[in-house]
Amino acid sequence: MNQKKVIVIDFGGQYNQLVARRVRECNVYCEIYSYKTDLSKIKEMNPKGIILTGGPNSVYEEGAATCSKELFELGIPVLGLCYGAQLMSFVLGGNVERASAREYGKTETHFDTTSKMFAGIPETSVVWMSHFDYISKLAPGFTSVAHTDNCPVAAAENAEKNLYAIQFHPEVLHTQYGKEILFNFVRNICGCEGTWRMDSFVETQIKDIRKKVGDGKVLLALSGGVDSSVLAALLAKAIGPQLTCVFVDHGLLRKNEGDEVEEVFGKSGNFDVNFVRVNAKDRYYAKLAGVSEPERKRKIIGEEFIRVFEEEAKKIGAVDFLAQGTIYPDVVESGLGGESAVIKSHHNVGGLPDFVDFKEIIEPLRDLFKDEVRKAGLELGLPEYLVFRQPFPGPGLGIRIIGDVTEEKVRIVQDADAIFREEVAAAAEAWKQENGIGAEERSALSVSERFEAAYNSNPLWMPDQYFAALTNMRSVGVMGDERTYDYAVALRAVRTVDFMTAESAEIPFEVLQKVMSRIINEVRGVNRVMYDLTSKPPGTIEME
Ligand code: XMP
Repeated sequence: MNQKKVIVIDFGGQYNQLVARRVRECNVYCEIYSYKTDLSKIKEMNPKGIILTGGPNSVYEEGAATCSKELFELGIPVLGLCYGAQLMSFVLGGNVERASAREYGKTETHFDTTSKMFAGIPETSVVWMSHFDYISKLAPGFTSVAHTDNCPVAAAENAEKNLYAIQFHPEVLHTQYGKEILFNFVRNICGCEGTWRMDSFVETQIKDIRKKVGDGKVLLALSGGVDSSVLAALLAKAIGPQLTCVFVDHGLLRKNEGDEVEEVFGKSGNFDVNFVRVNAKDRYYAKLAGVSEPERKRKIIGEEFIRVFEEEAKKIGAVDFLAQGTIYPDVVESGLGGESAVIKSHHNVGGLPDFVDFKEIIEPLRDLFKDEVRKAGLELGLPEYLVFRQPFPGPGLGIRIIGDVTEEKVRIVQDADAIFREEVAAAAEAWKQENGIGAEERSALSVSERFEAAYNSNPLWMPDQYFAALTNMRSVGVMGDERTYDYAVALRAVRTVDFMTAESAEIPFEVLQKVMSRIINEVRGVNRVMYDLTSKPPGTIEME
């Protein structure tokens, strides 16, 4: 990215990607690097600003994550957050100690608004605190510019050197003026112009892709998920018929999903690309027959995907480029960027590059966070239902049917799931009509306004992922005058930020009741509906 950037130096805290996302929301490009990154590399990047994140250590402990004093002498503005603030103070000669009590949660804070960091915000507001250690003595040249009842240095600065230390977390939404504070830093103190926008990203990428691909052929495994759909739309705009999208319908997709994807990217859609839909349902069901062990099922589905894709790739012949929907969190989590441990090895299309005959991989979404991918999707004219689609696992309904998979069970779970999604979406839309901006009005908005109105203005209970699963349990019930012996459907709906931990969502009871009643009435073979209350851990989000 040849944008002027801010770099976020990661000390292992839980909000690190959030810091980077918030900076980008100020239209400033930024990247995350581990605290182990060489100073020479940082100098070479010549960032407009540096942000040091929170972290789990205490700065005075032996072996604690640290940074060199020279980092503060580069003449580049530095903002330390929480651990980063303590580290800045400690390295520059101040003192950090353990407090007698932890300061945690929403905390009233008083600001010196003559500081550039706090310009334009009220003198008192609420911030999010989470710390045991505190800055007990300021480093030479620093003054305190914010305090709370318990914490004399909630923020400190050496304005002359553009060094700022903030004990709380401006990146967390509970901090009332967090956005303004980060904006003050990156736009006013660092002097970034705010040129990072999705419309210009799309435009630049289209040019870059054309230049790179020339008249070459590109192959993309399209799953129908957000990332691969946005990538398909971007490539379609850039190189049109030089792109072939292969969409494997394994018969384990959500109801109507295969047709929806085909409608957008197939012949009747707006994109002029080669679209190949492989209906592989029978092959999958045959392979999965009688198999109930979860890992075995996942393996079969994954292997069969590769086999089907391989056959299609052979028909297409050699291609110049294989396109992949890698996004920035994948890069950070794989350890190539920040410090966060390698978290996920979930891949929709694991192993593809090994056997497809191609010269190079292209990953145009590699620098984007998920929200930005969605915005790019809106920019490219994809429908909201595709752009705001919730995550869906590669093995699909295969891991939402406990036990062996049959065509009958797939039908039950597809129908029950469609009802659940329809009712939750309808309740959320009704809430938006009443409390925000309805669908019709949204369609007239600009992309970023539409994003806010459609996605960020959901009711508080809105789950981040929700679906129906089929338990392997049948139980006795009564319907009309008849005894039934049918399946139990489990509804799962979770609130989560990172999908590593999750809480069950507090969907209004009347919505759940309506879903239950519709499922019982409309889906043959079901006589019981349960709501899964389990958080993660100990449960996982999926059932298998
Ligand atoms: P779990 O069940 O591990 O799910 O709590 C966490 C998130 O990952 C998704 N998931 C998968 N995604 N391939 C994927 O692409 C998979 O095999 C897979 N398994 C789980 C799950 O939907 C949730 O969002």
